[in-house]
Amino acid sequence: MIDSAICLGAIEVTAWTLGIPSSEVYGAATSYSELRIERSDARVIRVCTGLSCIANGADDIVVALESATGSRAHAESNDAAVALETSACGHLCALAPAIHVDGRWQGRAAPESAAAIVAQAGAR
Ligand code: FES
Repeated sequence: MIDSAICLGAIEVTAWTLGIPSSEVYGAATSYSELRIERSDARVIRVCTGLSCIANGADDIVVALESATGSRAHAESNDAAVALETSACGHLCALAPAIHVDGRWQGRAAPESAAAIVAQAGAR
C-alpha cells in the first residue's frame, strides 16, 4: 500500500463544514506523521521513537534501515523508492520496538531484520 495524501480541496471542505479557518485544518493534518499533504510514490517505513521503542533499541533500527535504504530518516528530498521516517508511539508498546511498513504496524523489530523489512516494503 502506498500512503495516500490529503488533497487541499478536502482541507477547504473540512474547514468550511466545521466553520473554522483552513489553516487550522491544515495545522491539524500536518501534525500527524501518518498523514501527508504531498503525495509520494515511495513506500514508507516508519520506526516508532516513543519511549518504549527507544528503550528497546529503536535508534539501532533507524541506523540499520538508513544503511539498508541508503537514505536518512526524514531526508528533505528523498527520491528513494523507500522513505524512512520516525514516528511517535504506534500503540504497540508491549511489542517494542515497533515499525510501520506500508500501513501496518509490526512489533519486535530488530536491526538484523532491516534488509528483510526494506525488501518487504519494496516487494508490493
Ligand atoms: S513507544 Fe513505540 S509503540 Fe509505543
